Amino acid sequence: MKMRIVNVVGARPNFMKMAPLMAEYARHPDDFAPVLVHTGQHYDDNMSNLFFEQLRLPKPDVYLGVGSGTHAEQTARVMVELEKLLVAQRPDLVMVVGDVNSTLAAALVAAKLCIPLAHVEAGLRSFDRTMPEEINRLVTDALSDYCFTTCADADANLLREGVPREKIFFVGNVMIDTLLKLRDESLKSDIRQKLGLNSEYGYVTLHRPGNVDSKDTLAGILSALEAIQKRLPLAFPVHPRTRARLNEFGFWKRVSEWPNLRLVEPLGYLDSLCLMTGAKLVLSDSGGIQEETTVLGVPCLTLRENTDRPVTVTEGTSTLVGMDRDKIVAEATKVLDGKGKKGRVPKYWDGKAASRIIQCLLELPIRK
Ligand code: UD1
Repeated sequence: MKMRIVNVVGARPNFMKMAPLMAEYARHPDDFAPVLVHTGQHYDDNMSNLFFEQLRLPKPDVYLGVGSGTHAEQTARVMVELEKLLVAQRPDLVMVVGDVNSTLAAALVAAKLCIPLAHVEAGLRSFDRTMPEEINRLVTDALSDYCFTTCADADANLLREGVPREKIFFVGNVMIDTLLKLRDESLKSDIRQKLGLNSEYGYVTLHRPGNVDSKDTLAGILSALEAIQKRLPLAFPVHPRTRARLNEFGFWKRVSEWPNLRLVEPLGYLDSLCLMTGAKLVLSDSGGIQEETTVLGVPCLTLRENTDRPVTVTEGTSTLVGMDRDKIVAEATKVLDGKGKKGRVPKYWDGKAASRIIQCLLELPIRK
């Protein structure tokens, strides 16, 4: 009997994590019958379809179309729709990745229906419960039967929370599987020429509610970017949440007039990876980008007070700089003066994480 696995994705960072798993299932057609469900949490072409195309993800078998909303609305809509599907299909396993609202919703539904649940990227903790992702991670891990982790500190977090050792599998980082697979292809992108970035440049992303939903915090970060772009051109793809706040707070016009800040629409995976690979410096509040820059060996100034990915600071190229304007500028200056952080690639961030997960699934007593 093939193992029937319902795999759930919803938002942009999920797609890079699911792509290598879908590719691995396809290499074992006699063992797995995967179903891909897209909740529709992210729905714009450049936040979703473009990623499916570039990551060569199969078209979703089911699209729930939940869209945006408050946390409760979005989570509840995924739950209501997914419950119908899981009751009808009764799969052997539900597979969730990352820490977005769709991850949490799918975990709750699977657990209530007593369907085994696997969580990829389990055990990451910022210890900051004001982050919605922290709540999503805590609940998802508590409900999971199989916790697949990216680093040793995630294992330690789970053990401390009472997760039994036999539920934890240190397999590495599936997002890095995708990066290593597509790195060469990404270098063919003409995005640098399109943005007029002919020599050194920096790359900026910003979307955490804690950074962009507060007018004062956002103003401080923008003031740092204004200073840095005087020395280094910056490419800044603007997330829809950030664009909305820049408009709402009346910042958009001023920011778009800074000569060396290139504000662009959200980019596809290949353009984004191409820009990151060639950047002198990355400034970001994204957890995924902390991991990607660590593998690329590019210094990343992480615009947060804490991180759920401490290995990118202890072993990688990430420096936690918080949101204080002067600190951000001072750290950027260090990098531009050639004193940027050098790191090493953490264990098992080697392009083989998905194949380790598939191996675990084959060996575990999941099939009915
Ligand atoms: C979500 C995840 C976050 C992840 C991020 C990556 C949660 C709680 N947060 O945050 O962990 O790092 O995705 O992007 O799940 N919008 C659009 N088009 C879209 C999607 C969203 O315009 O395709 C706008 C909507 O106005 C929406 C807002 O962006 O209200 C925020 O979207 P949402 O999915 O709620 O959260 P993100 O900030 O994207």
